[in-house]
This record gives sequence, C-alpha cells and structure tokens, in this order.
Amino acid sequence: MTNVRKVYRMGDTDVVALDHAELTVASDEIVALVGPSGSGKTTLCSIAGGILSATDGSVVVGDEEITGYSDKQLTRFRQNRVGFVFQSVNLVPFLTARENLLVVDELGRRQGRPARERADRLLDELGLADRAKNLPSQLSGGQKQRVAIGRALMNEPSLVLFDEPTSALDTKLGIQVMELIRSEMKSRGTAAIVVTHDERITEYCDRTVHIIDGVLAA
Ligand SMILES: Nc1ncnc2c1ncn2[C@@H]1O[C@H](COP(=O)(O)OP(=O)(O)OP(=O)(O)O)[C@@H](O)[C@H]1O
Ligand SMILES: [Mg+2]
Repeated sequence: MTNVRKVYRMGDTDVVALDHAELTVASDEIVALVGPSGSGKTTLCSIAGGILSATDGSVVVGDEEITGYSDKQLTRFRQNRVGFVFQSVNLVPFLTARENLLVVDELGRRQGRPARERADRLLDELGLADRAKNLPSQLSGGQKQRVAIGRALMNEPSLVLFDEPTSALDTKLGIQVMELIRSEMKSRGTAAIVVTHDERITEYCDRTVHIIDGVLAA
C-alpha cells in the first residue's frame, strides 16, 4: 500500500478510517496488525483484499496493481489471488466442511475432481479428514475456524487476510490455530496479515504493525 487513504462518507460527515497508509508485506511474510477498536484494521484488510476501494493511493498485490480495477476485475482478483478468514467464521450452514471448501471453486476456476482432491488434502492437513461430511453445526469452534482457513487456501492465494481469526477461541485453541496458520503460510510461501488484539498471537507473526486512528506505525 502506498499512501492509501480511506474516507467513509456518513451523511454530512467524513470518517477518515485510513490515512497515508504505507505498508509492504513480503511475499512470504506474516504481519500482525494491532490496534484499538475502530482504528481501521478491517478497513485495511478489506482494501488489501479488494473488497473495498481506497479513496486515494495505490494498492499492489503480487504483480497486480488493483487500484483502478473495475468491480468485475476486483471479483476476479478476489477469486484468484486472496483468501479471507473472518472473526465470525461465515461458513455456509447447510453445506458440509468439504462443500464449504468446494464452494470457492464453483465460484472460481478449478472444478470437479481436482477441486475435490485439493479440498480433501487441505482438510487432512488441517486435521479434519474425519470431519469432511460434518455440517458447521456439528463442529467445534476451533474446527470451524480450521475449515475457514482451508477455504481461504483453496484458490492458492498469494495473500491471506485474517481478521481476528482466534478471537472466538480460548487461549489454548487460539495458539493452536495460530501455529497452524503459521505452518500453512510458511510451507506455501504465502503472505498474510493477521489482525489481533492478543500479544501472544503476535509471537507467531514475523513483524507487528500498530494502527491508531487510521495511522500506521511500526
Ligand atoms: N461502512 C462504513 N461507513 C462509515 N464508517 C465506517 C464504515 N466502516 C467502518 N467505519 C468507521 O471506520 C473506522 C474504522 O473501522 P474498522 O472497521 O476498520 O475498525 P477496526 O479497527 O476493524 O475495529 P474493530 O477492532 O472494532 O473491528 C471506525 O471509526 C468505523 O466506525
Ligand atoms: Mg474490525
């Protein structure tokens, strides 16, 4: 991100959610993003992942400058290049664990057997091989979060955005999920931004960036 600014218009007032944001994440680096509620963390992730457009500035992910992308180009970019893991897990409730991974590919490019094999390989890696047919309601919190991580990895993203991935988990489970996130990112050489309030979680990241009132500081 170079000189990124995000202003939300609320009636007559402008909310500056991100100001002069400069952030470079190396292609295999895990960056923790830490800051108080309302400081702009979700906004930053949304802009990095092409969910929101910046008001000003430039955003480059991999070799793509997404700043001027149309909605259609952004959709394609999200399908192919990024993964998201949100605080509230957002699994599709009436689909099984495996189907929740496969849904990514029905929207994207890979289909049929290769997709199914990839989904099963990921579920296996995440320790969920025997839960592939479970619905989200039949999974524990940590298991659901692992399905969400698997889903974020289905499209072989170059960047994964984790917005408080462990906040719904107790400390022990949070650490386990972070260990998993770290090993998945490092074994694939994938970049990640991890939003967290928890200092223990930042130990699993390579570097911590702080944000206060929309302003980044190392
Ligand atoms: N769609 C919107 N319209 C107007 N203002 C918004 C919108 N989304 C966020 N904001 C404001 O922008 C600021 C940054 O919000 P953001 O969601 O990025 O914060 P955050 O750091 O993720 O907070 P939290 O830790 O509570 O999730 C806040 O002041 C928020 O009220
Ligand atoms: Mg947020």
